[in-house]
Amino acid sequence: MELAVGGGMRRSASHTSLSESDDFDLSRLLNKPRIKVERQRSFDDRSLSDVSHSGGYARGGGGFDGMYSPGGGLRSLIGTPASSALHSFEPHPIVGDAWEALRRSLVFFRGQPLGTIAAFDHASEEVLNYDQVFVRDFVPSALAFLMNGEPEIVKNFLLKTLLLQSREKKVDRFKLGEGAMPASFKVLHDAKKGVDTLHADFGESAIGRVAPVDSGFWWIILLRAYTKSTGDLTLAETPECQKGMRLILSLCLSEGFDTFPTLLCADGCCMIDRRMGVYGYTIEIQALFFMALRCALQMLKHDTEGNEFVEKIATRLHALSYHMRSYFWLDFQQLNDIYRYKTEEYSHTAVNKFNVIPDSIPDWLFDFMPCQGGFFIGNVSPARMDFRWFALGNMIAILSSLATPEQSTAIMDLIEERWEELIGEMPLKICYPAIENHEWRIVTGCDPKNTRWSYHNGGSWPVLSAVLLWLLTAACIKTGRPQIARRAIDLAERRLLKDGWPEYYDGKLGRYVGKQARKFQTWSIAGYLVAKMMLEDPSHLGMISLEEDRAMLKPVLRRSASWTN
Ligand code: GLC
Repeated sequence: MELAVGGGMRRSASHTSLSESDDFDLSRLLNKPRIKVERQRSFDDRSLSDVSHSGGYARGGGGFDGMYSPGGGLRSLIGTPASSALHSFEPHPIVGDAWEALRRSLVFFRGQPLGTIAAFDHASEEVLNYDQVFVRDFVPSALAFLMNGEPEIVKNFLLKTLLLQSREKKVDRFKLGEGAMPASFKVLHDAKKGVDTLHADFGESAIGRVAPVDSGFWWIILLRAYTKSTGDLTLAETPECQKGMRLILSLCLSEGFDTFPTLLCADGCCMIDRRMGVYGYTIEIQALFFMALRCALQMLKHDTEGNEFVEKIATRLHALSYHMRSYFWLDFQQLNDIYRYKTEEYSHTAVNKFNVIPDSIPDWLFDFMPCQGGFFIGNVSPARMDFRWFALGNMIAILSSLATPEQSTAIMDLIEERWEELIGEMPLKICYPAIENHEWRIVTGCDPKNTRWSYHNGGSWPVLSAVLLWLLTAACIKTGRPQIARRAIDLAERRLLKDGWPEYYDGKLGRYVGKQARKFQTWSIAGYLVAKMMLEDPSHLGMISLEEDRAMLKPVLRRSASWTN
């Protein structure tokens, strides 16, 4: 069935649709019988018309002034949040502060709000590039604005970043691919001339000079979130957005020497933007790649140019999901199988396809792996399995349905079983465990910022707790165990405002404000707000989740229901 909302989700043959089946059904996440508690009316109990009305354009028409807000009033960009004051669902005093802080981080370009800076931390001696709008950091802000019925800033962001994409980008004398999206950009105000210009960083200024692979994926995912939330298909259908998507896709779908369907990438090309041994086929990029492909599939027009990509995407998704679900997945049984692997097997009959040496399994893993539960490991390449847990990749794998329903359940089980290690006193650990001593020297290049249990090396990032909380909330509501989500959000609420919204926490349990953490880090603030709004109204989850597409598992090229109906 199709969404038919005010903005006109119905489409003609060459148009795209975001269908009902894309909404996230969490019944599959946690299906164990639990004690019954009083249930919220969950989003999957709602009719789709309810869901579509919680967005902006769906009711209020296209104009900014006529925008409908979830709180029921007309809203302006600067002002009191609709969400904090008007929702009856346990308003917490820090929600108001969070909205204020989020609005303080807004960046304007020629009078229009265009994004949010990474951190509004005047106390910090070194600004570095934290005064820039990071593409990945803006996503939680964008979701907060969309959920609050303020889509205009998201639209501005999507359109302006497209202009940056088409610029020539060079690192020294080497030209980057046309489709690359910047890691971040800055608005430069020339007070004398009274003009604003945009300056983007594609990696040519970034520490380590790595181009971000995730930015283009986040851009596509955000375009779908915007479309889904507003019901406004016209933006995604513009020639500019269609071309922007095709450019991103042509970069990551180009053919080369690969034998794997996963995307080969450099260390530091994603949220973990420093050397952390995540080069190769890091889970974060693979999960985002998968999700972006699925989002693009829904939004690409089926015209001559679009069709070429539609076919390539379908073929890649089929192979990618098989590869990830088979080779990146680790649970008790799989670990035991690897432990007993024979090596040096040749030919198609090999069980140990990548020639992984069982001795390379780290000791911590044997105790960490619960009998029930599992996760996608960090990396798989010849003779190298990076067994670390990475939060973002696993969360995105659930949201995008890269994980099968059983795998999603197992990831949530693992989090519950290993609460102390993965959540501790501040959700959520970016990766587990930390690397130390000699390994830290080799892997990070002696990085003083990434010492054990700090920053990217086992630090706890409040922004990641948002994703966890959405999943937990929806799963909890569905299965009657809201106490898990509440426990996690309680932890965050106890500290975040008091500590000044730090970027990350340090320590095994995440008890200490990070050594070099910025304060008033925008995505810590926005992540909290998004988690709160999701708790209040789980129907928002549809913006950022995709239902499993069974046709994907069948041999290509059968069109799936989600993009032909
Ligand atoms: C750090 C993070 C990166 C983030 C940036 C701005 O470099 O590793 O993911 O985008 O800060 O907040």
